[in-house]
Amino acid sequence: MKKIVILTGAGMSVESGLSTFRGGGGLWDNYPVDMVATPEGYAANPGLVLEFYNKRRSELLNVEPNEGHRLVASLEDNFNVTVVTQNVDDLHERAGSTNVIHLHGELMKACSSREPHNLNYVCTLPSPDSELHIGDKAADGTQLRPYIVWFGEDVPLMCDAIQALDDVDIFVIIGTSLNVYPAAGLLNYVPAGVPIYLIDPNDVNVTRRGVVVIKKGASEGMRVLIDEYLSK
Ligand code: APR
Repeated sequence: MKKIVILTGAGMSVESGLSTFRGGGGLWDNYPVDMVATPEGYAANPGLVLEFYNKRRSELLNVEPNEGHRLVASLEDNFNVTVVTQNVDDLHERAGSTNVIHLHGELMKACSSREPHNLNYVCTLPSPDSELHIGDKAADGTQLRPYIVWFGEDVPLMCDAIQALDDVDIFVIIGTSLNVYPAAGLLNYVPAGVPIYLIDPNDVNVTRRGVVVIKKGASEGMRVLIDEYLSK
């Protein structure tokens, strides 16, 4: 079986009703990113940060995977698929994808404030309406915080994502503005000669040459990818 690695971003979940981060009306327009998505913001006002992610998590109650997520999952019938997502929602898994690397963490998990990457202290929350509050403790006795990689923090799963590219046959990018590193740098690890497809309804600045751009939303773009490029 050929191996496909798919890098996804916030645009993947737009057709499910979730917002992107950048661009008109994006999440960072409405919430100051320094306050809710940095370790400094968390240190200054942990309650606000917990509340921000409680809201994000509760949005998951009202959204479903879209056709794009389902088509990504369906690729597993014919390909060995690794999804590398920057998204913290669980829509890829709910659509049936079985091999998902969450570079920026997961809304449905919580972790230690002192050692956010220590898996011994990571726990899964029972449901999207579970809330984190000041006083909730991780197993190491520190405040339980969202299992989210904030700006300025390490991205430990980059190693797994880079490793997945070792023997990749096809690389696909869906719904990311490629503004945030190290995730955006994954493109540089795709071996020469491997076909690269980019699905996005807007222009995305890609420096690498030879990328086939499918200028459409995630669902329609996935249909085109499958019918016109992968079925041959
Ligand atoms: N289908 C596919 N892509 C879409 C759609 C759609 N229907 N609608 C919008 N997009 C595209 C936009 O054109 C844009 O290129 O999705 C992309 C979203 O870009 P960003 O908002 O920058 O999101 P992303 O690239 O995932 O952000 C990366 O930055 O804020 C941090 O940690 C956060 O994981 C996030 C990271």
